Amino acid sequence: MELSKKHCMLISFFIILSSIGTEATKEPPRTGKHFVLIHGSCLGAWSWYKLVTLLKSSGHNVTALDLAASGINPLQANDLQSSFDYFKPLRDFMEPLPSHERVILVSHSLGGMAISQVMEYFPSKISVAVFVTALMPGPTLNISTLNQMPRQFVSIGRAKHNMELSKKYFVLISFFIILSSLGIESTKDEPPRTGKHFVLIHGACLGAWSWYKLETLLKSSGHSVTALDLGASGINPLQVNDLQSSSDYFKPLRDFMEALPFHERVILVGHSYGGYAISQAMEYFPSKISVAVFATAFMPGPTLNYSTLNQMRVSQQGPRLDNHFTYDQGPNNPPTTFISGPLYLASEVFLLSPIEDLTLATLLLRPLRLFSDEDLSKQLMLSTKKYGSVKGLSL
Ligand SMILES: *[C@@H]1O[C@H](CO)[C@@H](O)[C@H](O)[C@H]1NC(C)=O
Ligand SMILES: *[C@@H]1O[C@H](CO)[C@@H](O)[C@H](O)[C@H]1NC(C)=O
Ligand SMILES: *[C@@H]1O[C@H](CO)[C@@H](O)[C@H](O)[C@H]1NC(C)=O
Repeated sequence: MELSKKHCMLISFFIILSSIGTEATKEPPRTGKHFVLIHGSCLGAWSWYKLVTLLKSSGHNVTALDLAASGINPLQANDLQSSFDYFKPLRDFMEPLPSHERVILVSHSLGGMAISQVMEYFPSKISVAVFVTALMPGPTLNISTLNQMPRQFVSIGRAKHNMELSKKYFVLISFFIILSSLGIESTKDEPPRTGKHFVLIHGACLGAWSWYKLETLLKSSGHSVTALDLGASGINPLQVNDLQSSSDYFKPLRDFMEALPFHERVILVGHSYGGYAISQAMEYFPSKISVAVFATAFMPGPTLNYSTLNQMRVSQQGPRLDNHFTYDQGPNNPPTTFISGPLYLASEVFLLSPIEDLTLATLLLRPLRLFSDEDLSKQLMLSTKKYGSVKGLSL
């Protein structure tokens, strides 16, 4: 029931946007429109992942942007001096657009402020501006006044501020459905915490977000769940070049394990490259782990060191497709970072996943720092006495 309602709201919004797409400009032969999506406060480009999927599947070009210090944008909240800094990624995107290109700007909530600014700066590059339960200031309605008013639901504005009433009404109804279904969900009681404590560690280029479905399932079964971002992953504030060694990469997990009460024992789950992180934790904190689960993960051990395992990986490696390496120490040295391309993700990693999860990944993926064999071998010296004392499970 809730699901179908949610699905219905997404579809209605999609229909609205598509209808805007088909009649917004009288420009000739382009099959799809270009949608630029701006998230609300505390969210990021990721918050549009379902809509991005739908719009792309209808042949539109979609750009979902992170505003500054949002999503995986590298700035942190304290780096921002003013809202001008906050809106900068959108201005930077609009500025180089060819003068003939006109995009459809869509904003949610506080994102309405961001698109209002670029409507003022680049009016000729915008065919229509959509405010989705968004703040909508204007020439005669300044921010101070707006902040004192009750929130409006949805408005669709032309760049020159003439609205279409009937469309507005339609959108309003759809969003009423959306908001009521959200309301129903948020009133659910939390289940009692009688279960186990799962600690989930993501694979290369991914983040804690990659566990969102499993985390939901585990929590709804009464377990407590901690999904961690490793260094420079997900929304961890470090950037890839801040990592000096794999020790920095694994640190968020060590810090978490260290801080656990002496009597607490968790179930550690590592996916893919995350197998290395949980292996190190097994060596350092064997008494705090009841079982370690390797989910299609690298599983080194006292008799299988990193170098050997890595050579096995290299020899079994499939096509690299659009995976991207950087060589920050010059072209004659080993690559320093790696990131999966959308094609590789689609054909090798997200084969069995719904397409919107692939979209989500493309909005949240971050480069992996590549560490030397020596570095990783040093970080992963695993003993039978400690590492070997933890129950392990390989899936
Ligand atoms: C989408 O728009 C961007 C910016 O104008 C452009 O660089 C890119 O080629 C477009 N992509 C497609 C698939 O049309
Ligand atoms: C905003 O608009 C109101 C009403 O028009 C006006 O009284 C107020 O001085 C304006 N504030 C700013 C900061 O411009
Ligand atoms: C890893 O193990 C292999 C085979 O046991 C051994 O030859 C190699 O020296 C080891 N490498 C390191 C860095 O310990």
